Amino acid sequence: DVIDIRSLTAEGLFTYDPGFMATSSCQSAITYIDGANGVLLHRGYPIGQLAEHSNFVELCYLLLNGELPSQEEYREFEANIRNHTMVHEQLANFYKGFRRDAHPMSILCGVVGGLAAFYHDHMNITREEDRRISAIRLIAKMPTLAAMSYKYNIGQPFNYPRNDLNYAENFLYMMFSNPCEEYKINPVFAKAIDRIFMLHADHEQNASTSTVRLAGSTGANPFACISAGIAALWGPAHGGANEAVLNMLDEIGDESEENIQRYIDRAKNKDDPFRLMGFGHRVYRSFDPRAKVMKETCDEVLGELGMADDPQLKIAKRLEEIALEDDYFIERQLYPNVDFYSGIILKAIGIPTNMFTVIFAVSRTIGWISHWNEMISGEYKIGRPRQLYVGYNQRDYPAK
Ligand code: ACO
Repeated sequence: DVIDIRSLTAEGLFTYDPGFMATSSCQSAITYIDGANGVLLHRGYPIGQLAEHSNFVELCYLLLNGELPSQEEYREFEANIRNHTMVHEQLANFYKGFRRDAHPMSILCGVVGGLAAFYHDHMNITREEDRRISAIRLIAKMPTLAAMSYKYNIGQPFNYPRNDLNYAENFLYMMFSNPCEEYKINPVFAKAIDRIFMLHADHEQNASTSTVRLAGSTGANPFACISAGIAALWGPAHGGANEAVLNMLDEIGDESEENIQRYIDRAKNKDDPFRLMGFGHRVYRSFDPRAKVMKETCDEVLGELGMADDPQLKIAKRLEEIALEDDYFIERQLYPNVDFYSGIILKAIGIPTNMFTVIFAVSRTIGWISHWNEMISGEYKIGRPRQLYVGYNQRDYPAK
């Protein structure tokens, strides 16, 4: 009388939805996506309008608080972020425990989680004020921590943040300034970095944000939750895509028609694991509205540098044209996503490829912390998915 435990559920019926293709895990008022029509709204505002008229810090305020700030609110919020850009001097020792050639994402996972050790003072997540200060600390310190991971990699001294600079400028300064050489911040680069931060700021329940919510649903502290988000972001199917795009463009090598077609054919071949990196999206099935702004920004930056003829840019543009006319991509509604052009911009600015996902993490921190805060300030349950068990039925331990 063996009961088939694989068909047993104590509470009745469950849905089985691998990859959560059709399951909402929460209610949220932060970001709306209409994948069929290529719409992305943050608190109701279209991403294209925000990218044109707003800036990253204002977007942070909007995502976190639900409304655009008044001038006074903006000034106060921005000043608050500037005041929290420094990290504790002891945190530098964390870096020294890593191998010099450690991937900066592995460093970031560790040091962001480690921030919890420094901020016992405001760790009561049921207090609104504690959640607010944790959010400010995370937004403010992420560029500092990211730049430190780069400086550690290349063996240069860390730069302290300069609070006379804005958010994007400060990041560029901490990345590229060194004691031997004055680094002049190019305003086109600073604007491009600000845009990249904005375009990656939030994207509702993507894999890393869902990870942050899941970790947060246990009552874990915000620094631990964001560290979990960073880990989830690292994969090539998510935040690692722009690094993978550049590797792919490198591999393609030149813009000759037959060369590009060879890679398109590879992407279509189901026996070949190769996919066109920077193409396709779980939600967008017409176009990714962020990709358009990213392509424009890419033209601006490469124009500024006199690199409009950059071979990788030419390959990317031709690849896009060919793919968009190919039945395989048309039928499956595969379009360039936000990261198809972001890697080219970052490379042109001088950012090494292993920092690309780190920059994504800096941008997405506001999305993660806004979702975490939204969840914790409302009613929520511990996230605990069920499973469809496909293992053995009960059986007896063999007699010896
Ligand atoms: N190249 C070739 N074929 C593709 C690609 C691609 N980039 N993306 C999807 N397909 C094909 C699949 O093989 C599948 O074909 P089939 O129906 O014949 O089996 C079909 O399109 C549907 O693809 P899924 O894998 O089911 O789509 P899913 O929603 O699960 O995946 C993902 C989305 C992971 C983004 C996928 O498109 C991909 O791997 N793209 C490349 C990596 C990338 O650019 N990731 C960045 C995402 S954006 C971001 O995280 C910011």
